[in-house]
Amino acid sequence: MPTYPPEPFRIKVTEPIRLISREAREAALKEAGYNLFAVKAEDIFIDLLTDSGTGAMSQDQWAALMRGDESYAGARSYLRLKQAVEDIFGFKFFVPTHQGRAAENILAACLVKPGMYVPSNMHFDTTDANIRARGGRPTNLVIDEAFDPSNPHPFKGNMDIAKLKAFIEKIGVEKIPFGMITVTNNAGGGQPVSMANLKAVAETYRSFGLPFFIDAARYAENAYFIKTREAGYENKSPIEIAREMFSLADGMTMSAKKDAIVNIGGLLCVNDEKLFGNVKNELILREGFPTYGGLAGRDLDAMAVGLYEGLDEAYLGHRLAQTAYLASRLNDAGIPTIQPAGGHAVYLDAHAVLPHIPNYEYPAQALCVEAYREGAIRGVEIGSVMFAYPDPDSGKIIYPKLELLRLAIPRRTYTQSHMDYVADSLIQIKARAESIRGYKFTYAPELLRHFTAKFEPL
Ligand code: F0G
Repeated sequence: MPTYPPEPFRIKVTEPIRLISREAREAALKEAGYNLFAVKAEDIFIDLLTDSGTGAMSQDQWAALMRGDESYAGARSYLRLKQAVEDIFGFKFFVPTHQGRAAENILAACLVKPGMYVPSNMHFDTTDANIRARGGRPTNLVIDEAFDPSNPHPFKGNMDIAKLKAFIEKIGVEKIPFGMITVTNNAGGGQPVSMANLKAVAETYRSFGLPFFIDAARYAENAYFIKTREAGYENKSPIEIAREMFSLADGMTMSAKKDAIVNIGGLLCVNDEKLFGNVKNELILREGFPTYGGLAGRDLDAMAVGLYEGLDEAYLGHRLAQTAYLASRLNDAGIPTIQPAGGHAVYLDAHAVLPHIPNYEYPAQALCVEAYREGAIRGVEIGSVMFAYPDPDSGKIIYPKLELLRLAIPRRTYTQSHMDYVADSLIQIKARAESIRGYKFTYAPELLRHFTAKFEPL
């Protein structure tokens, strides 16, 4: 029987949740157009839609909120955040943003022109869409092992260096404003990137004179995976590993709603002074003055504390073991998930659970609907609903290689018995998998369609 260490915290404040009846769940699904984004939170029992902004803040973070300085310019809260950001990430300049996509939007606004390409291991949806929205083309160059859910490679978020070099040579540096990498690789299963790969990626970008940006949403989980899986790092602390990771890059975008364990916030860091000038102008236009960047002063303080708490070893050890526990309970019951378990989420292989549903009938969406129907559990589709786009040249729909149901685990929020409930519900679904059908769209916007699409069962 898999186990995980006891929670390294106890519960001081509670938030009630309730399980509504099967009939009520059926009605909620219908009303939502079979899109779980449209279901009311009060009708969800276990909400694994995202680990973004859904974590539980600590007593120290709540205390920090009270210290929030709401001065428009030069607030104490900003200076406290600045100290933490400089200590951990070490870039020359930074601005707070209201969340990760705001940082991505500003970076894309400053650097991406129509017809340009931005390589990464795998861009997440908002990064992908922010590059597309400027006429750019996000390009994913992760190692091939990432597309084999059963392959237990310890660093499946790694970039394929040979593919990256060939890509840059083919496209030409003048059409590549910057290169990226996402740690951990959320779209590919929450899989980490090794330090060796980060070094090789940095070296490759540098050899072509391209600026290197890290999407740092889950940098602390990535650092802990390096500690536990990469030779030479076992005796380093997560913060030391994080510092080494960021010393390789020229800047970063970050959603602080993940590893900084806050409900709202983000960061954009750069080393280039001229670019920073443009970043500030863009920020002032759309988000706010550079010392608050669209956040309240108290949010900056909660982030400053959370950036360190997210790097705590006891916390990270429990967190990654919790994800691994849920994955192994599912695997023991014959439900395949991406191997090894990711940092923040368990990714069910919908092609394997529902082999009779083709990608154009959205198997991962079907599995997502069933998780709600069975247990009022909300996950998110990461498959053809999210990532099938027409090729800009041929107009032909390109389907992603993976069809996944992601169960993202909010930080410090659910206990082991919640994980057992989730596993038991999914095991029930597996038993009746053959009777589950696919879906078709009744409405879909052009970009980021998973958020607002409507469906009909086939
Ligand atoms: N980058 C990564 C790797 C992400 O996972 C996300 C958000 C973002 C950027 C954008 O950040 O939401 O603060 O604007 N991911 C969430 C998720 C939404 O559910 O995985 P944001």
